[in-house]
Amino acid sequence: MTEASPMAGRDALEKPVKGLDVARIREDFPILAREVYGKPLVYLDNAATSQKPRQVIEALVRYYEHYNANIHRAIHCLGEEATAAYEEARAKVARFINAPSPECIVFTRNTTEAINLVTYTWGRANVGPDSEVLLTHLEHHSNIIPWQRLTAEKGASLRYIGLTEQQTLDLDGLENLMDARTRILGVTHVSNALGTINPVQKLAAEAHRNGAIVLVDGAQSVPHMPVDVQAMDCDFFAFSGHKMLGPTGVGVLYARPELLEEMEPFLGGGEMIKRVTLEDATWNDVPWKFEAGTPNIADVIGLGAAIDYLNDLGMENVRVHEMEITEYALRRIRQMEEVIIYGPPDSADRGGVISFNYPDLHPHDVGTVLDRHGVAIRAGHHCNQPLMRCLGVSGTARASFYVYNTLEEVDVLVDALGQARAFFSNDTN
Ligand code: ALA
Repeated sequence: MTEASPMAGRDALEKPVKGLDVARIREDFPILAREVYGKPLVYLDNAATSQKPRQVIEALVRYYEHYNANIHRAIHCLGEEATAAYEEARAKVARFINAPSPECIVFTRNTTEAINLVTYTWGRANVGPDSEVLLTHLEHHSNIIPWQRLTAEKGASLRYIGLTEQQTLDLDGLENLMDARTRILGVTHVSNALGTINPVQKLAAEAHRNGAIVLVDGAQSVPHMPVDVQAMDCDFFAFSGHKMLGPTGVGVLYARPELLEEMEPFLGGGEMIKRVTLEDATWNDVPWKFEAGTPNIADVIGLGAAIDYLNDLGMENVRVHEMEITEYALRRIRQMEEVIIYGPPDSADRGGVISFNYPDLHPHDVGTVLDRHGVAIRAGHHCNQPLMRCLGVSGTARASFYVYNTLEEVDVLVDALGQARAFFSNDTN
């Protein structure tokens, strides 16, 4: 192994990180002050979940301490305040992704539930034995399993767009990828495993040309770059709050209003009805038709606070910062002769995600040594087993960056990787 000194890569980087005042941002994240095994925490598992700023934590505490009440039901002050905060969060989400109105936004538990909502409702009504569902080899299990279940139930076919050698979608002959049988294309905006950014706008145009609709999994894009669902021209767009500084337990489904109108409800119960008799019921207006039962009020409000925080930073700045960190990390890791890096070579074509392996080390072993140095990464198949099979590996080690990460932390990662190499070399001698 030829491990560069921590500053070698820094010398090679001509520009300092720009876009964000990271030192100031870090002060907002109490968890970043902690140590792990006596070392400062270097949190590089942001594609799994992000850390939470004080502003989000305080929004949750404020809700529970000052206006905890159920929403859309109460005629008392607390209920009205809670309802207003919940619906204001919906409006913030709509503005954040440039949805045409808050009524296009359905709150779910997470991206997974949002996609399942689509397969159970739109899918059951629109996919039949002669239909085809088209996915890609870059999909997370959350955008595979619900479609496998739907197509098996309906006798429909399921096909996948493959990959090029650079682990981007193989769109050669794009005009022949879909036909009149294709009912829906499900595609991730940014791969959680490799970071590859997909040309979703181009794919949506092609799907629409064939009469198909498009569901975009935005779990790894909305937290990291400006997203405009109208410019993208997608029909469904799903993402999670917990990867974008918000709490766990809240996700979002954006859908074109006319689709939401024609879709049957997902779950039945309170909130989603207008009138109920012993025999039948009529449904509430959208989006409440899809929010049965008491929703996750506190966490929706927390997501609103996370969006305020990201808006203050500016999503263009977030993207610039992550590209700089990713570019620096790619340069540093490339200096380590043995390490194999997956995904597109250029940081402009990927989100802040770097998947890599030592050819002879299991990623779990690498991750365990890194953890002892305070560095948290994810190791394994990243909920992408079919993709790992395409790559010919059982898993990878994955570092993923966010607004509070620094170049110094990349240096710690690279140093710890060198330590992992040395540790296992000694082990086999
Ligand atoms: N989907 C999350 C990840 O990529 C959990 O780690």
